[in-house]
Amino acid sequence: MISRFDQLVRTIANVLKTGDLITVLTGAGVSAESGIPTFRGPEGYWTVGSRNYQPSEIATQAMFQRNPKEIWKWFLYRRGICEDALPNPGHLAIVKMEKLLGSRFRLVTQNVDGLHLRAGSNIDRTYQVHGNLNYMRCARECYSTIYPLPSGLSRKARGDDLSKNEWDMLVCPKCGAMTRPHVLLWDEYYDEQYYRLESSLDAASKTALLIVVGTTGSANIPNQIVATVLRRGGTVIDINPNFNVFSEAAQRSAGGLFLQGNSASILPTLADLIIDLIANGS
Ligand code: OAD
Repeated sequence: MISRFDQLVRTIANVLKTGDLITVLTGAGVSAESGIPTFRGPEGYWTVGSRNYQPSEIATQAMFQRNPKEIWKWFLYRRGICEDALPNPGHLAIVKMEKLLGSRFRLVTQNVDGLHLRAGSNIDRTYQVHGNLNYMRCARECYSTIYPLPSGLSRKARGDDLSKNEWDMLVCPKCGAMTRPHVLLWDEYYDEQYYRLESSLDAASKTALLIVVGTTGSANIPNQIVATVLRRGGTVIDINPNFNVFSEAAQRSAGGLFLQGNSASILPTLADLIIDLIANGS
């Protein structure tokens, strides 16, 4: 009987021989060890809620139409938490994999915290399918330009209001209309222009090994990606402290594995294994 480690080595060595893509798909769990709450964990954003609304009510286009300031307050509060956080060894291991694999590597992330980019992941190979809360865009879509948030916004606690001066900064530099956070809201659709939908699905269709990290799979696109990889006979590895829908998919896939544990510990080991296998000519 082969050990799980041997199985992992075999799986990765086989994938490296194919020349197909290795894709990493991340969720909130990869940033948990940076101190950013997940959504559905005990301290999660969707579990705890905001002061006046449930997050599922706030993070919608319908709410933005009714009360755009509530949306901004919610995302600026979350942005403050992200600003205080640093990339952890899991983010850094993903950068290592990308540097090693180059054009054979893709990263699809549901996280809007920007930590992958801060760790050094290349924006051209990083598909932020839920956006990035360090950016804003015109709510009227006069242009599709994405702007960094103005630097003069102060850090917000939950429910904090913004000064008039701060509200004035959150306008479109081109037409003067209100801006919106560059994030996918619950009642909106994925697209290519802002959220790299087609690029992500195209990557999935060319992926031999999909490494899923820290997600419950509650959003649509991760499920499409995993299903696409499984359909083409690819391998799925799931890294998560808790068994979930993707752990089960991983165990069903050819040579796939569920690696139970925290991503900041497991991802560096996986990156080192890939380095060794490439160095040994696999
Ligand atoms: P969830 O909060 O649903 O799931 C977080 C996952 O991370 C769980 O499976 C945890 O077991 C796992 N986890 C916790 N700590 C971990 C660690 N140290 N290492 C690895 N995994 C760990 O977050 P997501 O699946 O990312 O969408 O949520 C998906 C989407 O739902 C979010 O992007 C957001 C939300 O609605 C939008 O806002 C559009």
